[in-house]
Order: sequence, then structure tokens, then C-alpha cells
Amino acid sequence: MDIHLITPFANMVDAIVHESILGRAESKGLVTYRIHDLFAYADPPHFKIDDYPFGGGTGMIMKPEPLFRAYAKAVEELGSDENMRVIFPTPDGALLNHDIAMDLTTVDRFIFISGHYKGIDQRVRDELVTDEISIGDYVLTGGELPAMIILDSVIRLIPGVLNSYNSAQTDSFTSGLLDGPHYTRPEEFRELSVPQVLMSGHHKKIDEWRLKEQEKKTEERRPDLWKKYKASQELE
Ligand code: 6GU
Repeated sequence: MDIHLITPFANMVDAIVHESILGRAESKGLVTYRIHDLFAYADPPHFKIDDYPFGGGTGMIMKPEPLFRAYAKAVEELGSDENMRVIFPTPDGALLNHDIAMDLTTVDRFIFISGHYKGIDQRVRDELVTDEISIGDYVLTGGELPAMIILDSVIRLIPGVLNSYNSAQTDSFTSGLLDGPHYTRPEEFRELSVPQVLMSGHHKKIDEWRLKEQEKKTEERRPDLWKKYKASQELE
């Protein structure tokens, strides 16, 4: 999977993608990252990437020319636009969830365009963008962090990225239930003990206890997920 990121805040993106799991996916050769500094595609001598909105109003709008140029360069470097998605993170996009993340794991080529809400010329969205994705019903100052969140949610699902692929299969949303509690050593910590069933070595009982904990938490916190889970249980 080859991932190009177009942004006016190249340092911010650079600081995130080469660390932790995103960095490990790169070291393992499962993904490549290429960051395009949007200013490098702007016209000298002022290298302006935004301008006032036609029709008036507040806020600046990102100009189309640097974005179209950066896009063309990204496609050229990718060598093909086959199985390519151009993602524009935006609060008016489709709400990110596990199914969208799973769907994106089969993509070979990505271009992420990080812009600013209200702040990007519509022609870029109309002509270049294939997917507009929101990370939740609140507004952030820019698309860089959302792009990182979308990427993280996809990359951790690629087989081979996590040490045990199993740990992506058992986490919240894969099973339709929220994840339950986990404990590690020491067994006693500040007079707080670990649930005895986990120390019993009785695997069937442990599985039953874990499922019960997951169900309890899901019912309490997420009535929406709980309803779906119950409906799918009744079909079986
Ligand atoms: Cl994708 N971008 C911004 N700027 N704010 C958001 C968002 C995206 N999703 C929720 N809020």
C-alpha cells in the first residue's frame, strides 16, 4: 500500500507516520509514505496556498492550483491510478467506522488531501477526491489529525501489521461488542486484586466471563450496538 499525503503541515504528518504502529508497518515493508509539502507546489514569489472566498465571507479558501499540481505529482510517483483512493477528511464527510476502515484495507494507492473545513476550493473535491470522510460530529482546525486517524484505523487492520493479527480480530467493533477489561501482573496491586476467574486456568469459564463483561459494557454504554448485536444473535 503506497500512501501519499498532501499537506501544508508536512512536519506534523512526518512526526506521526514514522512512529509506533504506522512506522512499524513501514519498516516491515507493508506500506510506504510520501509526504508532499503543499507550499512546494505553490507559485513563486509568494507561494500562496489560500485566498479570499468568492462571494465574500470569513476564512480563507485553499487554492486549487497547488492541490492539482501536488495530486498530479503523487499520481506520477504512484505510477498508476489503479485501485487508488483520494481521501479528503472533512466534518461533512461519511462518518468513519470499522466497516469503512476494513473496506480501505484492500486499496493499493492512497492520496490524502489535508485541508481546512470550508477552506478548500470545491473544484478539488469535485474533480480529484473519491472519498470524503469525517471522524466524528465535532470540528477540528485541520485535516491532518483526521487523516492520521483514518490511516491508523486502516493500517492496523492490514494482516501482518499487528504482532498478533488476532488482536485486531478481538477488539471492539470487530465482534460487534465493545472490548472488556484486561489485567496483567501483579495479581495484587495496592490491595486491588484481579478477578479470580482469570487466575483459574479454566478456559471455558474465562471465555464465558469475558463475553459477559463485553455484553454488560456494550448494553450500558452503546444501546445502538447492543440492539444490533441482539438482533444478530437471534438470527443464529
Ligand atoms: Cl475529517 N476534519 C476536520 N477538520 N474536523 C473534523 C473532521 C475532519 N471530522 C470531524 N471533525
